[in-house]
Amino acid sequence: MKFIKLMGSMAIASALLTSCGQSKCEQNKCEQSKCEQSSEKKCCKGTLETIKTRRSCRVFNPDSMPSKDVLSKIAEAGTWAPTGMGTQNPIILVVTKKEMRDRIVKMNAKVMGKDSIDPFYGAPCMMIVLCKKDNNLTVYDGTTVMTTLMLAAKSLGVESCWIHRAKEEFESEEGKAILKELGIEGEYEGIGHVALGYANGEIPAPKERKPDYIHWIE
Ligand SMILES: Cc1cc2nc3c(=O)[nH]c(=O)nc-3n(C[C@H](O)[C@H](O)[C@H](O)COP(=O)(O)O)c2cc1C
Repeated sequence: MKFIKLMGSMAIASALLTSCGQSKCEQNKCEQSKCEQSSEKKCCKGTLETIKTRRSCRVFNPDSMPSKDVLSKIAEAGTWAPTGMGTQNPIILVVTKKEMRDRIVKMNAKVMGKDSIDPFYGAPCMMIVLCKKDNNLTVYDGTTVMTTLMLAAKSLGVESCWIHRAKEEFESEEGKAILKELGIEGEYEGIGHVALGYANGEIPAPKERKPDYIHWIE
């Protein structure tokens, strides 16, 4: 009886901690989307590791869309970001529809004055953070959401890049029309886009951290 109980608890423990089989996963350094997307399998890469290994990806595979489950987890993480006075003023648009993705890409390129480029580096989807203009914390609130989305993505094996110019996009008539089409009412400021997907090549190593970043006052 004891033996059966022991076997049972071992099975539960191993179901929770089963890796995808990659040796990197066993060392909690797994980048395999197979492992990290799985809801019951756990590659327990720590928070600090995620913060340090997140890099801006500028080589996306346009044909590799993260699953809806993974995107939902990333977006939900964003809703837990802190906001000044807990207003939850930001909103997150999750764009997987190709027509809308291409429309935003065009608008963004137009703001840059470069109509023919893809400022989203081929990413198949994106999240756009906007913030209700209810107080003077708009940009701060939106930025915490942006950062949370990128870190959540990394922790689930999804690469990301902050893409700017959401402010100009949603100040334009077309941007306002998009919000209207979506039934979003009120005054919103575009904060940023998080381009999302899987890398199609090497992501360059990060720069060294500058030596005078941290100043201790002890
Ligand atoms: C406010 C802000 C705006 C950014 N806008 C862009 C952008 O439009 N396009 C881009 O490729 N990267 C953009 N980035 C990404 C930065 O270039 C990137 O974070 C920086 O070079 C450091 O690299 P890392 O993210 O790999 O650490 C932006 C980042 C921030 C915080």
